[in-house]
Amino acid sequence: MRTPLILIQVLGATSVLALSACGNGMDHGSMDNDAMAGMDMGAGDMGDMDMGDGGHGGMPGPTMLAPAPWSGSLSTTDAIDTNAGANVVEVTLRATQTEIEYLPGKKTKAWTYGGTVPGPTIRAKVGDRIIVHFRNDLPEATTIHWHGVRLPSAMDGAGPATSAIAPGATFDYTFDALDAGTYWYHPHVMANEQVDKGLYGAIVITDPGEPTLPVVADEVMILDDVMLDAATGEQMAMKDDMRTQMMGLEGNLALVSGRRSNVGLSVRAGELRRWRFVNSANARYFKLSLVGGTMQQVATDGTLLEKPTAVSELLLVPGERADVVVRVDAPSTTATLRAVPYERAMEGGATTPIDLVRLISTADAPAAASLPTTLRAFTPLSSPAAVRTLRLGERMSSTRTVFTINDAAFPDVPTLNAKLGTVEEWAIQNESEMDHPFHLHGFFFQPVGARTRKDTINVPAKTTVRVLVDFHPHTGAAGGWMYHCHILEHAEGGMLAEVKVE
Ligand code: C2O
Ligand code: CU
Repeated sequence: MRTPLILIQVLGATSVLALSACGNGMDHGSMDNDAMAGMDMGAGDMGDMDMGDGGHGGMPGPTMLAPAPWSGSLSTTDAIDTNAGANVVEVTLRATQTEIEYLPGKKTKAWTYGGTVPGPTIRAKVGDRIIVHFRNDLPEATTIHWHGVRLPSAMDGAGPATSAIAPGATFDYTFDALDAGTYWYHPHVMANEQVDKGLYGAIVITDPGEPTLPVVADEVMILDDVMLDAATGEQMAMKDDMRTQMMGLEGNLALVSGRRSNVGLSVRAGELRRWRFVNSANARYFKLSLVGGTMQQVATDGTLLEKPTAVSELLLVPGERADVVVRVDAPSTTATLRAVPYERAMEGGATTPIDLVRLISTADAPAAASLPTTLRAFTPLSSPAAVRTLRLGERMSSTRTVFTINDAAFPDVPTLNAKLGTVEEWAIQNESEMDHPFHLHGFFFQPVGARTRKDTINVPAKTTVRVLVDFHPHTGAAGGWMYHCHILEHAEGGMLAEVKVE
């Protein structure tokens, strides 16, 4: 079936953004081949896209640029601790406009923390006081939200106790590291635009009391995507197209810690590496598979699992984190970390496979190390003091899609009231035909039936997910906290509300 394509004019170049009805594949002939020609984007790689079953009126995502294999590093810079005290981490972060080379030889205008995408990794240990001197050198007001971190509500960078930091202004974020884990930071003002421009970074909190993993590397891997004009490298504004309004903004280039996908790293066969995955994308779901290697999950949203768990596929939704230990067993092979197809909306079109990272193993195998059999004790929460239902939905207004919680859109969703020190059961009932990643600020929850705790969880289309929310007190825990869909366009579009905890 020949399908209609919507052409969007961007900076004078015509780009096909693949807003087509499902058919038997794409119309490759109308790709902007001139724009692609000068780059090391293998046009041949575009041939094996999986556009879903076809035959229904879905909206497949953008046609991905497929970078040729390249080699390099995925390391992120660490924030510099300027405080000599053993239990204080004091760093300076400046939000600034920068140019980043996502595509070889092309400059992309980005908004960054400290000039890099991702921003510097903040490292601390449990018990440390973290002080972040922040300066906003952007032309817009912003905040920093510390996703997943339990801290005082006035330091959350979101919600009623905080206000946006004006251009040129400064703010000091101060909080104590309470929980070990992989967290991340990003703005909470016009987040869909600001995060997309490059404002995100990781915060890694370690706990000397946790078991040591016999890994040779412990690396942050932040997954993102950007929508670039392949000819100029410029980021393309997509907010008015139908798919973005419905499904959120997906880019055409997958990034791993700010580098274009399909990067090769050399490893030794048999060695273990810890990867701390963060999904910082506005809307893209990454379903990860390590083809030719093994992945054992050791943590979710920062918290260690009870025991390492072998995973062949790992779905990582926007906002979510997962720590895995990867290994390539066979010498002289290449294992590929691949984002495999996932359909996050009924008839929404599956994503196409994306090669993110290749692990190229040498023959030089060290003695195989193994992980501890237990990682953390799990304590189930007591039975809930209250049970609530939150219905996630959507409706059309005359101008746009409105995303709702219990049929209302922010700021009209009534504020919930919860008591510190109690547990509540929240039944998150997704009435819509697309998945929504649900995120609560300031507190952890235990998904009913899973023996772990999280702060971000996928709620598949037409499904109810139950979580036990732990309103455990911590310093500054009293106050208003946001909860919302982490598809940032959905949050901006109304699927966001507040729980007041006292
Ligand atoms: Cu990662 Cu309210 O956000
Ligand atoms: Cu959503």
